[in-house]
Order: sequence, then structure tokens, then C-alpha cells
Amino acid sequence: MKLFKILVLFITLQVSAQQGGMWIPSLLKGMNENDMQALGSKLTAKDIYDVNHSSLKDAIAHFNGGCTSEVISKQGLILTNHHCGYGQIQSHSSLEHDYLKEGFWAKSLADELPNEGLYVEFIVRIEDVTDRVLEGVTADMTEKEKQAKTDGNSNRIQAATKKEAWQDTKIKSFFKGNQYFLFVTERFTDVRLVGAPPTSIGKFGSDTDNWVWPRHTGDFSIFRIYADKNNRPAAYSKDNVPYKPKHFLPVSLDGISEGDFTLVFGFPGTTQEYLPAVAIKEITEELNPSNIAIREAALKVIDANMKASDEIRIQYASKQARIANAWKKWIGENLGIKKSNAIAKRQALEAEFTEAVKQKKLENQYGNLLSELEARYDEFGAIDVKRSNFVEIFVRTNELMQMMFRLSQMEAAAAKGEDTFNKARTAVQSRIKGTLKDFNTEVDRGIYEAIMPFYTTNIDPSIYDKTAFTNVDNAMKVLEGSSAEVIEKLHQDAAYAYAKPFIDDFYTNVEPEFQEKNTAINALETQYMKALMEVLPNERYYPDANSTLRVTYGQVRGYGPRDAVYYEPVTYLDGVMEKYVPGDYEFDVPQKLQELYAAKDYGRYADANGKLPVCFLGTNHTTGGNSGSPAIDAHGNLIGLNFDRVWEGTMSDMNYDPEICRNIMVDVRYVLFIIDKYAGAERLIKEMKLVHPKK
Ligand code: ARG
Ligand code: ASP
Repeated sequence: MKLFKILVLFITLQVSAQQGGMWIPSLLKGMNENDMQALGSKLTAKDIYDVNHSSLKDAIAHFNGGCTSEVISKQGLILTNHHCGYGQIQSHSSLEHDYLKEGFWAKSLADELPNEGLYVEFIVRIEDVTDRVLEGVTADMTEKEKQAKTDGNSNRIQAATKKEAWQDTKIKSFFKGNQYFLFVTERFTDVRLVGAPPTSIGKFGSDTDNWVWPRHTGDFSIFRIYADKNNRPAAYSKDNVPYKPKHFLPVSLDGISEGDFTLVFGFPGTTQEYLPAVAIKEITEELNPSNIAIREAALKVIDANMKASDEIRIQYASKQARIANAWKKWIGENLGIKKSNAIAKRQALEAEFTEAVKQKKLENQYGNLLSELEARYDEFGAIDVKRSNFVEIFVRTNELMQMMFRLSQMEAAAAKGEDTFNKARTAVQSRIKGTLKDFNTEVDRGIYEAIMPFYTTNIDPSIYDKTAFTNVDNAMKVLEGSSAEVIEKLHQDAAYAYAKPFIDDFYTNVEPEFQEKNTAINALETQYMKALMEVLPNERYYPDANSTLRVTYGQVRGYGPRDAVYYEPVTYLDGVMEKYVPGDYEFDVPQKLQELYAAKDYGRYADANGKLPVCFLGTNHTTGGNSGSPAIDAHGNLIGLNFDRVWEGTMSDMNYDPEICRNIMVDVRYVLFIIDKYAGAERLIKEMKLVHPKK
């Protein structure tokens, strides 16, 4: 027993020594390559990223700007999460063809469904352009001047970059503006829906299980990239053909065991790992609680209505999931920050920093940074919360106010001439049509009544009876005519007249105050980042996530979130059946899956213990945007699909703690089992390259 504990401690220490971080794929040579190999990887830095030859990175695509996907066949088949393809699955669904409820499996290429607006993007190459972006930037410049300089430099660099006609470029800032990288990208816009399990598999456990371990969700969906006859990106056309990728991931049938190496490769969205303690305090004590309260109020209304009506359930499913997701994450984040003593730990790091600044006699340069940050954050909380409340109400949760916000932007565009106005109008028209397609006036009115009090005491639910913007035809009529005519009609609309003063106040008071204070903080944080790296050079620094391609590595590993509780790293189909509640909207299990379970008909997808694996845990450092990222084994094969993190560890966005931060992946054998045994979509299995790396 004692030996076991020492062993666990030893392993944990090893883990904390080498994991955490979201690394730039073109810079893995050296420390990262060594770390990975120490964790069991057989991959070289070049296997992962290579400009001249195909490498793992050529199989990874940003999915619609918010998720990750990976190519798994030489015919452009891609895998992502069910929750990433949710909008597409929903948009093809109706009460008659409810693909959310029943699942969808295209029988042939011809049955694969096109998706307007959907795209995937590959990274062709990455270049460090820091010196060229920062050329001419001097310390005495204002933030505005610096920005203008770096913007100008960036535009020139991009214009001078060698690339093919169908490729794009972008430049992104790293380490808070201390480093810049250029990305050459390739974007495909003909991406078709190939398959999706029913929600009772793809979203099994729904919000009760979201962010939670043990987990039993088959969170995957399948798409295919189409290209023109020359294998290049092209708008949707019947004549397009399946894309032939530079690389695709073979799929391992051998499964995982605790301690196995795992690499997660994808597009993490945003992290804030280098915040001063005072900022973590502001976020967890002011910002998060206020956001949590607003969403909780909105969710109460939505949930009650979804339970009462199937039509509303379908209309609001996607919105509800989006709103509930961040709400629950913030709650977990606050708990985790507390439990891991993140603020005290950050203060200790700051004490160390201050001491090192003294010893290196850099007080003139860096001595005031932390106290200035503290002073700035003290004044920042109130406006940060106010702005965030506005965004929650007028952008994220109330759709009538959201339409009013968009309409006000259209009105503003009129000042720039009729052409600009017309463009803005077209955009607003399509947005409003989209919104009203899945809209219920009473639900939205209920949300309005529940959340508006967080912003004002001026509440008038009768605007819902008077406005044109609860009905598409009426709304479109208001938008007909010259800009002057449209604006006149708008001003007579009850909802617009109500919302406009709030929106004006936001633009004249809230936003400018927020921007001014935020810019000052950002400037200080840029200096602090630079100072940290200079003064404490032995820490492991990796840039915050910024929606660019990153590698994070770790191992399959369980965790102990509380006294006397230890979680195993693998779940099985048995656990699905343990959670099964007949007819429940979260925990129902499809008949067919029950039959396969009863017959233990798992084909070649069972584990050595005879059970069918469903999900597993790793120590990979992931965040929102990593959903759909491949989990890759020591040899470069696909072993799973990342889709979530454990609740106790969601604070990894500010404080990665190897003790309790775990990412959740669906085992690729479960994905294969569902495609093959459950859906009978053998044609897809045949397309893949199934391998046995352990044999
Ligand atoms: N928590 C995961 C992520 O942040 C999964 C969200 C989708 N699932 C859900 N039940 N809402 O995206
Ligand atoms: N579920 C997240 C996503 O959609 C992943 C995470 O936050 O861990 O990207």
C-alpha cells in the first residue's frame, strides 16, 4: 500500500515536471521533443510539423473557426465532435427528419449534405515574423501609435509573402505582443455532412454530464471535404470531388492504457495563463459571478419551455447548449481556482519575480509593474462587469435585443453612404431570418423579463406585442426602402425605440471607458510578460491560446479531485447502461445500442478485458476550440477525439494544475463501433486505415 502511494507520488511529480502547455508546432525541436519522448512518444518534431514533407499537421483542420477536425481517409473524410457539427445537423433537421433525434448516415457520396457557410482551414506553414512586425516600434510611442505601426508592418509582410493564389495569410500575436507568427492557410468551403449519431449517443448525458467525469458521450460527427478537379478549394458544386489530403491519420484498433502517451493537436481558442493574481481575483470574484447569474436566469426560462414542447426543444436545443456550456464552466472554474489556491500561488510567483527584479537590479525598468497592474485592476472591475452584462444581454442571450443591436449597427452604417447601408442591410436580413427561423416570442419574452433587470429597472415586456421583429414578414417589410425610410420606420418600432438608448449609452460611455482601461492593462501585461520571461528564465513559457494550431502532450491518467475520491481514466459501455433512464431527455439509450450491449456484440472494438471502451482521460492541456482535436498515440495514429475537460480542472485556462486538470476524449474504438455496429455504415470504415501499432 505504502509503496503504491510512493509510486503514485513519483508518477505525479514526473507528470508535473513535464506537462501542461500549448506549444507552437513549428518549434518543437529540443525541449518539447525531449519531453514527449520521455513520456513515451516515438515521434520526432518533424513527424509532427514539416514544411517540405507531409506531416501530422497536414491532417489537422480548423473547423468553422471554432473547433478542430482531422482527416481520417485519403478521400477527405474528417472527424469532429457532435457538438461542433451540431448547428449543421440541426439545420438539416425538421420534425419529419429529426437527425438530432435519429442520427444521420449518408448511404453514398451523393447523399452527403452540403452546408452553407461551413469551412475548414489547414495550416500550410508557420513563420516567425516578430522582428519585421515590430520594426520601428519604440518604447515612447502611445499604444495607438504602436498598433498602427504593427498593423502597417503586418499588411506589408502579408502582401510580400509567397503563396499560391488560393491560399491566405494571417499574422497573430503571441506572448501578449512580444512575438508574432505568420500563417499561410488553405480554406475549403465545400464541406458536407456524412454521419452523426443520435443525440442520445452524441450528446448522451447532455448538460448534467457536461464538463463532468465519469463521462459516456459518443461526441463525434463525420464530414467530408470536397475540392475542385485540381484538388483545390472551391465553392460548393455538384462537380466537386472528395479532397485528397497531404496526410491523413491511421486509426488504431489497439486502444489505450493508463500511462500511454497522448498528443492532442488542434486550435485552442483563448487562455490567460500569465495573469497577475489581482486579475484572477477580478475574474473569479466579480466577472464570473455576474455572468453566471444572468445565464442561470435565462436558462430557467429556456429549460422549462424545452421540457414542455418538442417544437421548442428542437428550436432551442443548440442555443440552450451554448448558453449552458459557458455557465457551467464558469462555476467549475471558480471552484477550481479556489481549490487549487491559484491566487495564493500566483502571489508567490509574484514575490519571486519581485525578488529576482531586485537581485538583477532591474527595479527601474520593472519595479512598478505589479503595483500598477493592481491599481488598474482595482478600477477595472466595475466597467468590466457592466460591459459584460451588456454583451450577455444584447449579444448572447436575448434574441430580440440581439436583433436590435444588429439593426443599430445597420443604422450606423447609413452614415457612410447608401452602398455601405445596403451591404449592412443584406447582412442583417439574413441574420434576422436565421434568428426568427428558430424563435418563439413567449420564450424570448420570458428571457427578456428574467435577465433585463441585471442591466436596468426600465422593463417593458409589451414591446414584444408591438414590435415587427418577432415575425419575419413584418421584419422584412421594415427593412424595405431607402436608408432614410428604413431608419424612420425603425425608430417607430417599439423594440427599437426601447433598445436604442441602451445601445447608444453603450457606445458613448461603456465601451470607450472599457477600452481605455483595458488598453492600459494590456500594455502593462505586455511588459509584464516580457519581464517575467527575462527575470525568471527557467520557467516553462508557452504562449496563451489564440486560435492558432498547437500541440499539447501528456498521458492517459486518472485523478483524485477530493479527499478519498479517485477517478479511473477509462469508461465503458456498462457505464452508459448504469446511467440509462428510459425516455429521459438526457439519459435515454437507443434500443439498438441496448441490444448490442446485451449481446456483447462489440466486433473487433472491445478492450482486452472484453468491455467496450467509451471515453478516457488525459493530462493534455486543452481549452475551448480543442473540441474535435485528435488524440494521437506515440506513433501518430488516431486513438481518440478530444471533447471536454473535467469540471474540477476547467480553471486550466488561467492555472493549469497537473494534479486535477484532465481533458476528456472519446475512445476511437467507440466511434468505430457506433459507425460500424450501430449505424451499419461500413463504407466509412472501409475508407479508413485501421492499424495495430501495439502488435
Ligand atoms: N463542455 C464542452 C465544450 O466546452 C462540450 C460542450 C457541448 N456539450 C454540451 N452538453 N453542451 O465545448
Ligand atoms: N468542449 C470544449 C470545446 O468545444 C473543449 C474544452 O473546453 O475543453 O472546444
